[in-house]
Amino acid sequence: MPSATLDPTRPEPPSDGGGARGGTGARAAPDGGRGAPPRHGAGRARLLSCWHAQRSGALAAHLDHHGPLPLPPAQGGAARLGTLMEAAGLAGRGGASFPSARKLAALRSAGGRPSVVVNAMEGEPASDKDRTLLWCAPHLVLDGAELVARALGAGRVVVCVPDDSDVDRAVAAAAAERAGAWRAPFALEVATLPGRYVAGEESALVSHLSGGPSAPAWRPDKGAPLRIGRSPALVHNAETLAQLALIARYGPEAFRAAGHPDAPGTTLVTVSGAVAHPGVLEVASGTPLGDIVACARPVDAVGAVLTGGFGGAWVPATAMGTPYTPQALAGVGGVAGAGVLVVLPARACGLAETARIARYMAGESAGQCGPCVFGLPAVADDLDELVAGTSPAAAARLASRLRSVDGRGACRHPDGVTRLVRSALGVFAADAEAHRRGRPCPQRGAPSVLPGLGAP
Ligand SMILES: Cc1cc2nc3c(=O)[nH]c(=O)nc-3n(C[C@H](O)[C@H](O)[C@H](O)COP(=O)(O)O)c2cc1C
Ligand code: SF4
Repeated sequence: MPSATLDPTRPEPPSDGGGARGGTGARAAPDGGRGAPPRHGAGRARLLSCWHAQRSGALAAHLDHHGPLPLPPAQGGAARLGTLMEAAGLAGRGGASFPSARKLAALRSAGGRPSVVVNAMEGEPASDKDRTLLWCAPHLVLDGAELVARALGAGRVVVCVPDDSDVDRAVAAAAAERAGAWRAPFALEVATLPGRYVAGEESALVSHLSGGPSAPAWRPDKGAPLRIGRSPALVHNAETLAQLALIARYGPEAFRAAGHPDAPGTTLVTVSGAVAHPGVLEVASGTPLGDIVACARPVDAVGAVLTGGFGGAWVPATAMGTPYTPQALAGVGGVAGAGVLVVLPARACGLAETARIARYMAGESAGQCGPCVFGLPAVADDLDELVAGTSPAAAARLASRLRSVDGRGACRHPDGVTRLVRSALGVFAADAEAHRRGRPCPQRGAPSVLPGLGAP
């Protein structure tokens, strides 16, 4: 089970083992100096505050720390929840930063008895935030799910977890505690799905829960609500729901008291790569990128940072002053995505690392769409050739290949890869040019800094 060190003045790694993939832990990072909600004080974690104070995520500790969950009114509960989300400026933490109030409004007009799906699949190999959250603060996540379920009159809440993780135990234990404490007007279930990259895509979740494959569905109208059978499904990332539980308790003003006007609140970030203290940090949105990286103690000069995860984008070391918000990161070519930062040391080859990621992502295709099935391995081949310095035409071929893959899958999986590769060609342009001229990468064959892809 992860340990959490929540005071930024004590950034030591966890001592009780476990933790994130690769043995990382959860900590709090700088608050950004904008204050924080009542009870937690400036510079303190919110999502992980109970864990910090009590070293427990159990129901008794949770209620003692946060107080009871204010339930939505029987009439007009959904409208009230939507107003709260809107006032807080809550955006999804699952990757797309989509406004939660708009998602709720779309579901309210869908008709039928809804289902609430908690997306804790965390298919992104460099992310550990949802697993950490569910071990450290499972009841905040379940509170958020309960709020939307009650407000919408949902018959079912399903927490989706991957089958290659231990997090199902944390969720099942928390669900049992709640069942022993009160009767909820919906069924609370834990569903274990294949731990694949694309299995966490929302239409893949819904397909699985409808008895189909864990693969994304072709959706001509992406705005139309997803359905499990006839039941419209509201799919939210685990962290989004935990944030909602804080907003319901402490109010939208308290939520906005930390973070950036463009991206209010705190957010969980998994930092890994060439750092001494990899782990999950809770930071105020808007904290400078370099401050977050510094919290994890880089072990070498920073060459670049992978933002957003394997389907994200590289940003150069010169961008470390960028506020950590989706908008500001986009301004320097980065993405917030699933809240991932991988630190690349200056001595490593960003193109070789990108080739490894492209190869991994090609292997994670759901195998349904030609441009994804054939295009992604070809992109990885082109990158390998580029890095080897054996093919002067590889760069030009790669550029045309990226165009032929863009936007042509049923889901955004291939688009994440093309974005990542384009960012690599920009950030590591000097290396790309040297390889094009026939100089191979001196780091070829060196161990990777990427979590989960350690082999050369
Ligand atoms: C290929 C792919 C994989 C995804 N995997 C996850 C995942 O593991 N967990 C997650 O929360 N969202 C994942 N998403 C995003 C979900 O489709 C969906 O947008 C999200 O769960 C919505 O939650 P939010 O509104 O709270 O952000 C993925 C998207 C894509 C395109
Ligand atoms: S784009 Fe790729 S991952 Fe997405 S549905 Fe098609 S084949 Fe599967």
